[in-house]
Amino acid sequence: MLFIIYLLSAISALLVYLLHRNMNYWKSRGIPQEPPHLIYGNVVGFRKTRVLNDLVIEYYNKFRKSGHPFVGFAFIQKQSAFIMDTKLAKNILIKDFANFADRGQFHNEHNDPLTGHLFNLDGKRWREMRQKLSPTFTSGKMKFMFPTVIKVSEEFVEVMMENVPAKTGGAIIEIKDLMARFTTDVSSTMTYALYELAQHTDIQDRLREDIQEVLQQHDGKLTYECVKAMRYLDQVISETLRLYTLVPFLERKALNDYVVPGHPKYVIEKGTQIILPAAAYHRDEDLYPEPEKFDPERFSPEQVAARDSVEWLPFGDGPRNCVGMRFGQMQTRIGLAQLLRNFKFTVCDKTDIPLIYDPKSLIIGTIGGIYLRVERV
Ligand code: HEM
Repeated sequence: MLFIIYLLSAISALLVYLLHRNMNYWKSRGIPQEPPHLIYGNVVGFRKTRVLNDLVIEYYNKFRKSGHPFVGFAFIQKQSAFIMDTKLAKNILIKDFANFADRGQFHNEHNDPLTGHLFNLDGKRWREMRQKLSPTFTSGKMKFMFPTVIKVSEEFVEVMMENVPAKTGGAIIEIKDLMARFTTDVSSTMTYALYELAQHTDIQDRLREDIQEVLQQHDGKLTYECVKAMRYLDQVISETLRLYTLVPFLERKALNDYVVPGHPKYVIEKGTQIILPAAAYHRDEDLYPEPEKFDPERFSPEQVAARDSVEWLPFGDGPRNCVGMRFGQMQTRIGLAQLLRNFKFTVCDKTDIPLIYDPKSLIIGTIGGIYLRVERV
């Protein structure tokens, strides 16, 4: 009996020591961090009351003007380096990628094969798999897949026509579920784009004019080249992805100790998880003035050229960026072009402004539907 009491006391003492050591991980290294909660770390309310994007943006804003290249951040119990400086983000994603090639996600190909996919794999297995998969998304393959996406989009427009009567006032439609009938890969991006366009009808009109003009130049046919030429459509999609960043932060893991260039006291130790808060960069007023405003002009060729690529990260960046980016963008372009050449979208009494997000969702998602008035053009 006495032995069991000794054993339990020893285990408790060890647990307290480990918890204490973990909680003080960054403090003991002189790196600033908001004091973490004993259990939830720096994400109190995660999946219960707080939306992940908001937690990340709030944390970033606490240190935004501090000048620290990175700060400490506990994602529940996982102590991570939270990258504040986009120049450091660029080093991690691109320049010094060799030291940050892993994402550090749980995977076990033998006992839990479903976790062994490209997103989770690391090291040699990731490299092999990425090399195998990348050729699927070359422009040649895109052209090959293009007619299939067009066919699906035409059927989708037919379904819409059945639901939208040809009279003034059209119909009130829940667009979230409807978009999922076209594609689940990019439907949320399309939904958020329509939601913004319904509130900014001037931008919607300009976009429709641009789509129709480019279509005319291509004999009214939605070909691969035609869709590529729809520049303003691209600007609208980029701005939608900035405001509605589906993946709030990117992750990497340090393969070796890394001294932050120009900041010798800031060392990311081997094995440390890294968080690059893309959603927070996208709402930083120094990078995007009036960040809450929907303004596709931010993505005019001139403004894009003046900005560093890592300041816009909805698909990540570097050798480990989203492998399906081009395919995703193609689907979104086709879907939106088809909808906007045929329909007009406006807000109605049932439209939630602002949207109410679901704290349980890992990627940004709303509670309930998104209702818009849809009329034929
Ligand atoms: C709007 C649509 C999409 C968005 C916003 C998106 C976003 C992302 C992001 C942020 C990452 C992490 C990148 C990084 O860490 O640097 C990622 C990775 C990935 N995405 Fe996407 N994605 C989209 C569509 C797709 C599609 C359509 C596919 C497949 C056809 C796809 C497949 C993948 C894969 C396999 C990875 C892991 C890549 C790797 O680790 O090498 N994604 N995506």
